[in-house]
Amino acid sequence: MAAAGDELSPAEARLAMMELANMVSIPMALTAVIRLGVPAKLSAAGANAPLSAADLLPAGHPDPSVLERLLRLLTSRGVFSEHRAGAGASSPRRFALTVLGRTLVPGPSGASYADYVLQHHQDALVRAWPHLHEAVLDPAGPEPFARANAGVPAYAYYGQDKEANEVMLRAMTGVSEPFMEALLDSYGGGFEGVRTLVDVGGSSGACLEMIMRRVRTIREGVNFDLPDVVAAAPPIPGVKHVGGDMFNSIPSGDAIFMKWVLTTWTNEECTAILTNCYKSLPAGGKLIACEPVVPDTTDGSMRTRALLGNDIFVMVIYRTQGRERSEEEFRQLGLAAGFTVFRAIYLDPFYAVLEYTK
Ligand SMILES: C[S@@+](CC[C@H](N)C(=O)[O-])C[C@H]1O[C@@H](n2cnc3c(N)ncnc32)[C@H](O)[C@@H]1O
Repeated sequence: MAAAGDELSPAEARLAMMELANMVSIPMALTAVIRLGVPAKLSAAGANAPLSAADLLPAGHPDPSVLERLLRLLTSRGVFSEHRAGAGASSPRRFALTVLGRTLVPGPSGASYADYVLQHHQDALVRAWPHLHEAVLDPAGPEPFARANAGVPAYAYYGQDKEANEVMLRAMTGVSEPFMEALLDSYGGGFEGVRTLVDVGGSSGACLEMIMRRVRTIREGVNFDLPDVVAAAPPIPGVKHVGGDMFNSIPSGDAIFMKWVLTTWTNEECTAILTNCYKSLPAGGKLIACEPVVPDTTDGSMRTRALLGNDIFVMVIYRTQGRERSEEEFRQLGLAAGFTVFRAIYLDPFYAVLEYTK
């Protein structure tokens, strides 16, 4: 099914293509306002009181209209709401955060979706995008990120660059917090009987911390990630940070949690990861994976757009043949690794819970 493109008049089609051709303005304007501290300043202004571009810049700034243009674009995309005292060109514009814009305001840990936006638009990642067509022509070759960064894959790059590593840790925490709340509200019982929980690719350990705060019967958490990643992770009571490589082996526990890991790898690599999870679990033990699950139909809904956009991000940054998968593809990967029972639970519009039982 086409997404509305056939229903346009020729003039609308030219306008829609003009919009698509300029789409890069949106994430880059978003990145700029975050770097300028706009969401933080708006949320600090009591009750999200609307502020003008001049209010958001240091006193005496020579030309606030430059920032105002960014804010107007992002208002047209729903990030800000625009407030004007009266009609007419001279009526000043003031801006406030919408519900969408408030995803950029720090949560309990100080991280938010703003960190995810910043992570995606670091120089090393941005310079990978012009190589996208090369991924199409040479799908078995290095992914665009490696092509653009002297052959170094993204996870290795983060490990070599302290700042990129920290940005990644914060980005993952910022996106994880609201999802984990939703998960724990409706799936908390899924951790029943677990005393030792291993988080594979657990990054800062933030997910494990959130689970253990709510599921008090878990006595020990093992945050397992690459050595450089766990070296930068903060201490968390009850959590042991373990550095290693999931392609070699995974620490054992009663259950494994693994969020947003499989998507970034090829089918062969996923089978290797799932096989190592299987080996480290006791009989009847569960792997609880949380991944985006791609819909079968292609439409213009926000969910489909968010998922397919992320699919191409994975193609560019992590693996050309790493990708978002359907529920059936996830089931088959689990069966190939030896798991006997599989179920998918949809409790969030982006991530699904994929439960594999040994
Ligand atoms: C997309 S991030 C997800 C982080 C976290 N699970 C979350 O959802 O917030 C993928 C994680 O896998 C980790 N990772 C990549 N390669 C790994 C490997 N070979 N062994 C263990 N962890 C790895 C990365 O360092 C990163 O923290």
